[in-house]
Amino acid sequence: MIRVKKALIPAAGLGTRFLPATKSIPKEMLPVVDQPILLYVVEEAVRAGIEDIVLIAGRGKHAIEDFFDRSYEVEDQLLKAGREDLLQRIQRIRDMANIISIRQKEALGLGHAVFCGQPVIGNENFAVLLGDEIMYSEPGEPTVIEQLAKIFIETGLSTVAVMEVAPQDVEKYGIVAAEKTRDGYFRVSEVIEKPTVQSAPSRLALPGRYIFTPQIFDYLRDAKPGKNNEIQLTDAMTALAKNQGLLSTLFQAKRFDAGDKLGYLIANIELALMRPDLGPQLKQYLRGLAREIS
Ligand code: UTP
Repeated sequence: MIRVKKALIPAAGLGTRFLPATKSIPKEMLPVVDQPILLYVVEEAVRAGIEDIVLIAGRGKHAIEDFFDRSYEVEDQLLKAGREDLLQRIQRIRDMANIISIRQKEALGLGHAVFCGQPVIGNENFAVLLGDEIMYSEPGEPTVIEQLAKIFIETGLSTVAVMEVAPQDVEKYGIVAAEKTRDGYFRVSEVIEKPTVQSAPSRLALPGRYIFTPQIFDYLRDAKPGKNNEIQLTDAMTALAKNQGLLSTLFQAKRFDAGDKLGYLIANIELALMRPDLGPQLKQYLRGLAREIS
């Protein structure tokens, strides 16, 4: 049976939109409520049964490595303070998966970041989860990676998540040209990086969840810089679609674009509202605020 056991999480972007906060730490390490964005992403992969996680890191690589490593000092202090609850939470992080970090020496684009993982991924199928996008699925519901894995296992074809976006948002995303199949998913013929709304073949955008066969590396190996002078993953995806085939599916989950300032604020509010320890008080505060500003 085809299985997906490895995941790659790119977290080596420059995080320009969050400067100066991201001058010394990667934006993927910014907290949403009380855990880094990256931990939500790793948790999604682990929930899908992923065993090995390859983190592509750049500036601030040590902050990422330390987070997933044992911290004797913190653990010792929590033990002495009798904070069993927090201690367990901290220990769970270091035991949740095999974390392997690789440095992307220069932020040359998402395609380049994915190619940096090739020595560890090797000849295996793998998932890619963008490190600054949180996909919230209710407990018991399949995560986005599980939704993709189901189609991948059925068909053996690389499968990526898509979502329908408003016309004014088309130029912010990779957009697919695709035809609906009888099974309800889309067969992709081309992927275009950030097209204008006039030239876009559809409004189906890539939010940052993918499952690839290792053939994607064949197209990334010799990839030339494309749009914005970056090595684009979307160019390699078009080659994959034309040669091996590529499917896409509309995913079910609540998506938070935590790599964008407004998306980051929304993620903090909505995920805090879901928390029993914070939700009721935050809701009360927001109700009062809404009255004040309306
Ligand atoms: P983004 O374009 O959202 O990240 O890339 P960025 O470049 O850091 O953002 P700004 O515009 O400067 O604020 C999507 C994901 O791909 C990773 C990023 O870390 C992010 O998780 N990425 C991007 C890399 O790992 N390497 C790259 O060269 C580019």
